[in-house]
Amino acid sequence: MELWRTPDAFRRACDEARRRGARVGLVPTMGALHRGHQTLVTEARKRADFVVATVFVNPTQFGPNEDLARYPRDLDGDAKKSDEAGADGVFAPSPEDMYPPGDETRVRVGRTAEGLCGVHRPGHFEGVATVVAKLFALTGPCVALFGRKDYQQLKVIERMARDLLLPVEVVGVPTVREPDGLAMSSRNRYLSAEDRDKARRIPMALTAASRAFASGERGAGELARIAREIVAEVASSIDYVDVADPDTVRVLGAGERAGERALLALALRLGGARLIDNVVLGEDPPPVAG
Ligand code: PAJ
Repeated sequence: MELWRTPDAFRRACDEARRRGARVGLVPTMGALHRGHQTLVTEARKRADFVVATVFVNPTQFGPNEDLARYPRDLDGDAKKSDEAGADGVFAPSPEDMYPPGDETRVRVGRTAEGLCGVHRPGHFEGVATVVAKLFALTGPCVALFGRKDYQQLKVIERMARDLLLPVEVVGVPTVREPDGLAMSSRNRYLSAEDRDKARRIPMALTAASRAFASGERGAGELARIAREIVAEVASSIDYVDVADPDTVRVLGAGERAGERALLALALRLGGARLIDNVVLGEDPPPVAG
């Protein structure tokens, strides 16, 4: 497995792979890799001949009071896990390489980025779109894989690729969960044992709403209420529990009715961690089996 530390070396490797006739698969990450990330690499392998993971903790997507400084960093471990999952190489640039001196250009995102996390993390999706556009520019024509765990991010990136005519096929991959249904996340390591136990309420809440939806409930307010009630007892605070259009990410008002598919998404704080999760009702299996 190769490790590229500079944008030039990474770009050359992708160009060479395409010259050989290989299709390039890209898996952008911020590191602290877990089985969710590894699944993206495995899925990339099915769709591409030359698979690269990127590891870059992107400063522009963190707010001033967020966890940029303490975000877990372990490049050796990440390289090993990428290798295990079947990557051909890892691109791990420095902040100065991704944001050259004098850097001032940003990708302006639109309505897809306004609701849900957009309300609580101003500038977050602009930072995500900007760094992903840079990674797409370096990689060149490719298939790029993103997790549905970060559903709104996936939709923002799909929209950006279409709007900017980027030569990238964006693919969404189902959320990988722990046996109790908790979505795998690099931020789960911030949880104390007690909070990890409380976190089981998150997949339970999404499952309860899935069941109500399957029984015919379509009221956006009621679906959100069912999920909110279950997490409210354990969360230190709740950023949102919302029902939204799964294609546009427009948040439905409490009085609106969901269609045949509906995104139920939530973000909350549990001790020191901000956790997000979602399910597309009418499409995804309920996170807790049985
Ligand atoms: P990060 O949080 O490291 O996630 C990298 C990718 O892994 C994202 O596409 C995310 O949705 C996916 N992922 C995380 N947990 C997952 C899970 N349990 N199941 C399936 N996929 C999962 O998302 C980012 O980094 C950054 O915003 C990035 C896109 C790299 C831009 O900086």
